Amino acid sequence: MNQDIAGLIRSVPRVSLLSGPTPLERAPRLSAELGVDLLLKRDDLTGIGAGGNKLRKLEFIVAAAQKEGATALITTGGAQSNHARLTAAVAARLGLKCYLRLKGVAPADVGNVLLDRLFGADLDFWDEPNYDIVNQRMAALAAELRKKGEHPVAVPLGGATPEGTLGYALAFAEIMQQAAALGGVPDYIVLAAGTGSTQAGLLLGAKLSAASTRIVGVSVSWAKDILAAEVTRHTLDGAKRLGVALTLKPDDVWIAEGYVGPGYAKPSPLGRAALTRTAQREGVLLDSTYTAKGMSGAIDLIEKGVIPRGSRMVFVHTGGTPELYTRAPEDLLG
Ligand SMILES: Cc1ncc(COP(=O)(O)O)c(C=O)c1O
Repeated sequence: MNQDIAGLIRSVPRVSLLSGPTPLERAPRLSAELGVDLLLKRDDLTGIGAGGNKLRKLEFIVAAAQKEGATALITTGGAQSNHARLTAAVAARLGLKCYLRLKGVAPADVGNVLLDRLFGADLDFWDEPNYDIVNQRMAALAAELRKKGEHPVAVPLGGATPEGTLGYALAFAEIMQQAAALGGVPDYIVLAAGTGSTQAGLLLGAKLSAASTRIVGVSVSWAKDILAAEVTRHTLDGAKRLGVALTLKPDDVWIAEGYVGPGYAKPSPLGRAALTRTAQREGVLLDSTYTAKGMSGAIDLIEKGVIPRGSRMVFVHTGGTPELYTRAPEDLLG
């Protein structure tokens, strides 16, 4: 399959939320230390709302919602959800109401939670054991809002929808174009994987363009088999949304596990080391929930020789840095 990704996606409704391509930058000091040609795709710099990967998904998700007449968005996530914060920012930008129902007990108003309030979201915390119950309660909230004359659209956890996945298929094409100008096609694109839909979008892009680049998702939460199944599902759903028949081989979906540490959103020793190393070699801030763990996986795979020295690697900086300002020194300093 060798398809023009932008051409395929052109007919899918999209609102413009990014001001243009995000930078693809060399990381010279980390590259020299690790023995690879490392480039950073700065999707932490996507413009509005303090940046992050979810903005590329929201361009498509919100366009679909507006097409069906949405007046409000409802979404969920963990207390420090970047997706929730960006949904609030996008809602503000487009004049929609935003209802955030975050899972857990209300924390202090810091980091993303503070920004949620700043963007004017209607914010509440639901202390439920799992997202199935949160989703049921979101459906009940939507019904209640409909009775009041609103047209709410519920955005699933992490913006993991077929339309959202397309945002990262396009990002794959953007990375390829930028990498060509910097010396060649990357052998590997590595990123932190939560719901797996960002990884799925990149994989869809790689498959559509028949690229040899391997997409490596470093799990920050789920076990390998569960995440692999989700990445497969999202990739195939994205292809279906485009009317493309795609098949995946099991080894197309590369999940690196072993980098979660003590748990989701809990700093890990390897993540702390990757976070301080990236700050001190490149002056670039990672976050401890996603990108530090993603980078810790990238570094470890190189050091173990799984990713060979001399490779060209793009690490996608998916954002998340507001979370840094909620952390204690011992959480961050490796
Ligand atoms: C900063 C950051 N990086 C990575 C991810 C993972 O993205 P996905 O859920 O598409 O796997 C998220 C998701 O919330 C995120 O906020």
